[in-house]
Amino acid sequence: MLLGLHTFTPSQALIQQNTIWNFIMSRFGSDPLTFFNSVYQNIAPWDIGAPQPAMAALIEKYPPMDPILDLGCGSGDLAIYLAKLGHQVVGIDFVESAIKSAKDKVAALPDEIARSLRFQVADALRPSLLHQQFGAVFDSGFYHLFDPDQCEKLIDEVASVLRPHGYYYLHEFAIEFPVPNVPRKISVDEIQTRFSVEKGWCIKEVRTVEFLSRVAPPVPATCACIERLPV
Ligand SMILES: C[S@@+](CC[C@H](N)C(=O)[O-])C[C@H]1O[C@@H](n2cnc3c(N)ncnc32)[C@H](O)[C@@H]1O
Repeated sequence: MLLGLHTFTPSQALIQQNTIWNFIMSRFGSDPLTFFNSVYQNIAPWDIGAPQPAMAALIEKYPPMDPILDLGCGSGDLAIYLAKLGHQVVGIDFVESAIKSAKDKVAALPDEIARSLRFQVADALRPSLLHQQFGAVFDSGFYHLFDPDQCEKLIDEVASVLRPHGYYYLHEFAIEFPVPNVPRKISVDEIQTRFSVEKGWCIKEVRTVEFLSRVAPPVPATCACIERLPV
């Protein structure tokens, strides 16, 4: 039996099992679900009650196509922001309490907006398991949780659910902290190397911006909007 499995509900146990394979060399230990569960016992540091401003600016400049997938959606503020702009959005996260917070926020929204939102507990490293195609994929602080080899697999997964000409939006730390359990630095160079035309991507924009949090002054971030080219 997997360590600590009995403390999870069946859906969390399935994700835990799947996730252990993905996270053998995780930046958040061998059990990242337990780590993120504990963060969500309080308001998470990244929970600023709104999308990251640089992400909002990208959305305005490069409007997404529907339906939209939000990877690692947390308590749902970005997905809700997109729904208020008139989009159909699916938000996934592996932390049940984060998804519950998102659903609680939906319950307070007018019906026409609430109807365009779906939040579910799922492994955001495996969006192909949703068996749905998306016009856009959002990644606000998800990609930077993973080491480069895991990011390669994540990009393949994103490519498999993104329609031709759909956009992948990223907003990630561009700073390395010398402590455990923190995201890694994602540079503009890394984005340019990983998302080349040869690999089927066209970078619409990539630049250095800021990442806001509830607990510290803004830190440098990299944000990008990247088009999936037809194959
Ligand atoms: C830095 S937080 C960002 C949350 C949100 N996107 C935002 O911008 O506020 C990263 C999120 O990814 C989630 N996460 C990490 N690994 C995951 C996985 N394998 N599947 C689903 N969610 C995951 C965490 O629970 C957390 O909510």
